Amino acid sequence: MSYTLLVRHCNHLLTMAGPDASRPLAGPALREWRSIPDGYVACRHNRIVAVGPMTELDEAQITPETEVLEARGRVVMPGLVECHTHLVFGGNRAAEFQRKLQGESYLDILASGGGILSTVHATRAASDAELLANALHHLAGFRHYGVTTLEAKSGYGLDAATELRLLRIAQQAAALQPARVVSTFLGAHVPGPEYRGRPAEYLAMLAAEVLPQLQPEQTPYVDIFCEQGAFSVEESRRYLLRARELGFGLKIHAEQLHDLGGCEMAAALGAVSVDHCDYLTPAGAARIAALSGGRTVGVLLPLVPLFLRQEQYAPGRQFIEAGLPVAISTDFNPGSCPSKNLWLALSVACLKMGLTPHEALAAVTRNAAWAIGQQQECGSLEPGKRADILVLDVPTPEEIPYWLGENPVRQVIIGGVLQQS
Ligand code: NIG
Ligand code: FE
Repeated sequence: MSYTLLVRHCNHLLTMAGPDASRPLAGPALREWRSIPDGYVACRHNRIVAVGPMTELDEAQITPETEVLEARGRVVMPGLVECHTHLVFGGNRAAEFQRKLQGESYLDILASGGGILSTVHATRAASDAELLANALHHLAGFRHYGVTTLEAKSGYGLDAATELRLLRIAQQAAALQPARVVSTFLGAHVPGPEYRGRPAEYLAMLAAEVLPQLQPEQTPYVDIFCEQGAFSVEESRRYLLRARELGFGLKIHAEQLHDLGGCEMAAALGAVSVDHCDYLTPAGAARIAALSGGRTVGVLLPLVPLFLRQEQYAPGRQFIEAGLPVAISTDFNPGSCPSKNLWLALSVACLKMGLTPHEALAAVTRNAAWAIGQQQECGSLEPGKRADILVLDVPTPEEIPYWLGENPVRQVIIGGVLQQS
């Protein structure tokens, strides 16, 4: 079992390994994962084979072929898992950013035919090659920040053909670079422009014409935006139920701008995650934790209220106390968060949602892996998992959220391969 790659003398090795591997980390366990001072992580090809303190390193497994990285004075941790992105889209919304700065709200812009719909027009007009090039550019940006696994949603086509095209382009982009991409179908983002004012008919079209064409092995999740101006709780419930019958895992965008009850409805259907949650109450979070046996992850997107100039941030601290497992993501998209900086999201989760640095670190690794069903593969440094490892330019985990907006990543290893930056 000789090592092909060894990262040694890690000042702090953040393994993210917790006592119970059968569910996402929740409550005090979210900050009580295993950190090893002066640690090592050893890999063979694309898998981690051993992790521990330097005093226990088996020197006999180091051969002339072993690539050795010295991490003295540095934090070493699992590759980031980015569990919520809208990766494939055309154009950008810089002009709307100006309108927002002058006081228009997200829902006002959407109601006037802008917002998501303006990106839909730009996306439909873009060629496959353009969309693919954009997606690859964004994936490279994510890898630069140390993201080694990422979820990618469709949702800017809003007709059957374009939605299928966006899923195909995401898969093509995934195959052309090393980070793992998990695909989600978000055809139910808002009713397509051809179905204005007819949300139920639009969902019926998706259920009849698109869902049966998708394979859960390729597109494991179906998502919906449950909000005023998008889909109601009852419409969302019916659609997600149909997706579940067809074998898909479920996700929802809900409680972003109002407390409608979408998160709780989705958790009752067994959703793997409920995302946004800015208007979810702590009591609602406790009910979700109980309903799901602690398996539905609340995905916090702290850069979204920041970018939308909204006062209300999800009460993450209270969610944790209510027993809800939480993850953090950027929600990268052209409208509500054009940033790929998951480290910034982590800092803002500490500043505006009350997470501790240790909780936030688990939320961008282990719990984010749970939020996209990748917990067997990534999110922690444990033997058997994929060798996705970051060496950081900081000596302690507490410094990570402190250097606001910086990228602490020094080296990125994906599947046992050191990436050239
Ligand atoms: O997750 N909330 C809905 N959808 C996206 C934003 C999409 C857009 O504005 O283009 C989100 O925030
Ligand atoms: Fe989103």
